[in-house]
Amino acid sequence: MKISVIGLGYLGATHAVAMAKLGHEVIGIEPDTSRLIALQAGTLPFYEPGLDEALKEVLQDGKISFQSAHDAKSAACEMYFLCVGTPQLTGANGADTSYVFAAARELALVISEDAIVVGKSTVPVGTALRLKGEMSEITGFDVNLAWNPEFLREGTALEDSLRPDRIVVGSWNDHSVEKLRNVYKPILESGTPFISLDVATAELVKVASNSFLATKISFINAMAEVAEVSGADTVALAEAIGYDERIGKKFLRNGVGFGGGCLPKDIRGFIARAEELGVGRALDFLRHVDQVNLRRRERVVELATQELGDVTGKKVLVLGISFKPDSDDLRDSPSLDVALRLLAVGARVVVHDPMALGALGDRHPELERANDIETGAKDAELIFLGTEWSEYNSIEPASLGNLVANKLIIDGRNVLDVAAWQAAGWRLIALGRNVHN
Ligand code: UGA
Repeated sequence: MKISVIGLGYLGATHAVAMAKLGHEVIGIEPDTSRLIALQAGTLPFYEPGLDEALKEVLQDGKISFQSAHDAKSAACEMYFLCVGTPQLTGANGADTSYVFAAARELALVISEDAIVVGKSTVPVGTALRLKGEMSEITGFDVNLAWNPEFLREGTALEDSLRPDRIVVGSWNDHSVEKLRNVYKPILESGTPFISLDVATAELVKVASNSFLATKISFINAMAEVAEVSGADTVALAEAIGYDERIGKKFLRNGVGFGGGCLPKDIRGFIARAEELGVGRALDFLRHVDQVNLRRRERVVELATQELGDVTGKKVLVLGISFKPDSDDLRDSPSLDVALRLLAVGARVVVHDPMALGALGDRHPELERANDIETGAKDAELIFLGTEWSEYNSIEPASLGNLVANKLIIDGRNVLDVAAWQAAGWRLIALGRNVHN
């Protein structure tokens, strides 16, 4: 099928490559010049394991092409995926849907009556109905719009796209459902459930899923607050409760909390939308989810101050600044936020990350950059592990101990081998655990 993907950020670029891998003929539309040039050259403007190779492959096979705006070629597509970002509004909780509306209006100028427009962006419930109205007004015919939320995670994006847990489609008619079944045919043939819903429910599935995941993480981080003052161990607690299949072990890893371009802004956007709909109280708990999450970041600064006394001028090495491993995404990164908070209380902060220093660019010049762990650790009074890149697990505690001024480490993700670090003479503080020596 001839498909167009509009908006080639994280979601769109992954979706475009996935569609091409499924055998469709894909035209990607990206108005951002630097992103466009990179994609045309087979380079992604962000780091995602395996996606670069897959992009090069589909480019070589002629399955995908990129352009800055619609033209006669893209106007001949059968299906258009709207993958435009919906960031948090500046100074407010709500989602900024202006980019989605702008892209939809431009699209309305070129599409034919039998085209199907499919929204994949994460939007406040009710957005699709408004989009359909605005587009139909421009085209003069009833635009066939469906909603098909995406559940991919950064770090495993392509795999999640090609082998998702489920495909959710919200629509106003059977025709678009059948077309989408066809687009995803190879995935459905491998047994993936296809869930056909009304549009409002499909929009809600996405924000409800992310809200549930955020709630799970904040639940275990709330337990960590209790564990820290009662001598309990949150990691053991999570494992014990997780054996109950109704609870499950996933997304119960306590630590410095959730970040990224999705979970934080999605719960806030959901709160704002519920308020608009007059049911703000229903989502009051999500405010607490957000607060618990942010309190974990503050807790690290509190621990640093408790341990070091006055932190002014003291060197702290922050290991990992991306919001999660296998990604260079710095959006609302808990670890980067802790680094900035430590800087704000006067520490001298050095950051290390296997991938994300490039993405940091020249932002926050007060943060010193270390290209290797050893240089960063030299004379450090404290190390804070904020992102659990696998390479941090192979740090040799004894040799690192020879470089630092003070063998003190805070494990913000509960990944280090406590016994090994302690045996090498380190004082290790693990969030939510009373393992301190
Ligand atoms: C999240 C959802 O998991 C995806 O299903 C969704 O498609 C995506 O948002 C989106 O809306 O586009 P992502 O933001 O890539 O995916 O990352 P997650 O794996 O959900 O992790 C989010 C944050 O939670 C990270 O900072 C991670 O370190 C943290 N986390 C995760 C924990 O603190 N504890 C856990 O147990 C799990």
